[in-house]
Amino acid sequence: MRVVLVTGKGGVGKTTTAAATAARAAAQGHKTLVVSTDRAHSLADALDVPLLAQPTDLDGGLFAAQVDTQADFARSWAVIGRYLTALLDAGGVDPVTAEELTVLPGAEEVLSLLAVRDAARSGSYDVVVVDCAPTADTLRLLRLPEALRWWTSRLLPADRLVARAMRRASKLPSPDAAVFEAVSALQAELGDVRALLTDPASASVRLVTTPEAVVVAETRRLLTALSLHGYRVDGVVANRVFPAGGDGWSAGWAAAQRAVLDQLSGELGGLPVWEVPYAAAEPVGLAALAALGESTYAGDAIGEVPTAPTFEVERTVDGFALTLRIPCAAAGSLDLARSGDDLVVGVGGERRVLTLPSALRRCTVEGARLVDPGPSARLVVRFVPDPALWMRP
Ligand SMILES: Nc1ncnc2c1ncn2[C@@H]1O[C@H](COP(=O)(O)OP(=O)(O)OP(=O)(O)O)[C@@H](O)[C@H]1O
Ligand SMILES: [Mg+2]
Repeated sequence: MRVVLVTGKGGVGKTTTAAATAARAAAQGHKTLVVSTDRAHSLADALDVPLLAQPTDLDGGLFAAQVDTQADFARSWAVIGRYLTALLDAGGVDPVTAEELTVLPGAEEVLSLLAVRDAARSGSYDVVVVDCAPTADTLRLLRLPEALRWWTSRLLPADRLVARAMRRASKLPSPDAAVFEAVSALQAELGDVRALLTDPASASVRLVTTPEAVVVAETRRLLTALSLHGYRVDGVVANRVFPAGGDGWSAGWAAAQRAVLDQLSGELGGLPVWEVPYAAAEPVGLAALAALGESTYAGDAIGEVPTAPTFEVERTVDGFALTLRIPCAAAGSLDLARSGDDLVVGVGGERRVLTLPSALRRCTVEGARLVDPGPSARLVVRFVPDPALWMRP
């Protein structure tokens, strides 16, 4: 079973590519679902069929759906929200403000990831292709499982004894069993979604770009940002490529696009770049999308996921080295901060809060550097044991 998340800058052809990829995968014998998590839901327009949360069978091997919210999840969210409101209330925050503060960030968006997870784990499909929202929203969405888990584990420890001691010490209301259940269910769900979407055996992200320098620059930054968060990009679809030749105007565009594409291929190392021609008409409807998918992928439309670890900790002579794979990261764009048990890594404005493995918590950061700038760029952070902390039982 494979999940392929399709994303990229607004308007580049994500929905078209997701549908064409799914149609091609289905034609190659994989039972495939294409599902849209984008609120705009233009997948139905591209396929030219009405879609529901329940998958519609398009031709026996290809199914399509647009996600809807899940009532169960919303209920556990509500239990946690009520408890947080009571906490803030006891802390002297007025109830209206408390209620506003406890609208958990991104709760609704997480629902769409859970729907993708459910489809992937249902056993009904070999391939699930996800038509995602544009770059910024998708990054926000893919950051959520880890960020929310971090947030809930700090604010609402799943360990009842720790929570009770904290509450007793601070004289704040004690969470009841329903809150614990909701928190541990939520943490398990978020952990499961992240495990599925970052597992090289099950998921990858496919970036769609158009062959223009400005769009490619955003694609490059997206590759770095997704990698920073532990997601694996399996290739780039270069959409709306002009045919070579023609009159002066179109020949000029074709040559400029070729230069951009050649540079992009070089920067991506061995990652595939699939080129999709600028069709003479909008590729709308299953037949047109299937034809587009066929001309895009010479081989298997689903392809391989890079398996190199995105995050690694190794022993060194004097301590440990933590390595994060961040292809195409610029050396000057790195930012690193230690905050208690967390390491905050920033690359070009994108931030990831990494909860350090226990051995590294008892170390100090000795230094960090970017090695092999380019497609194999890695951030290596050196840690050495802190004698005071290392002796701590
Ligand atoms: N290769 C192509 N040739 C011709 N037209 C195309 C091609 N790919 C996409 N289009 C057209 O470009 C428009 C935008 O495509 P699409 O909706 O797939 O983009 P998107 O990235 O999903 O947009 P959004 O960011 O709004 O979700 C559509 O009208 C689509 O039919
Ligand atoms: Mg779209």
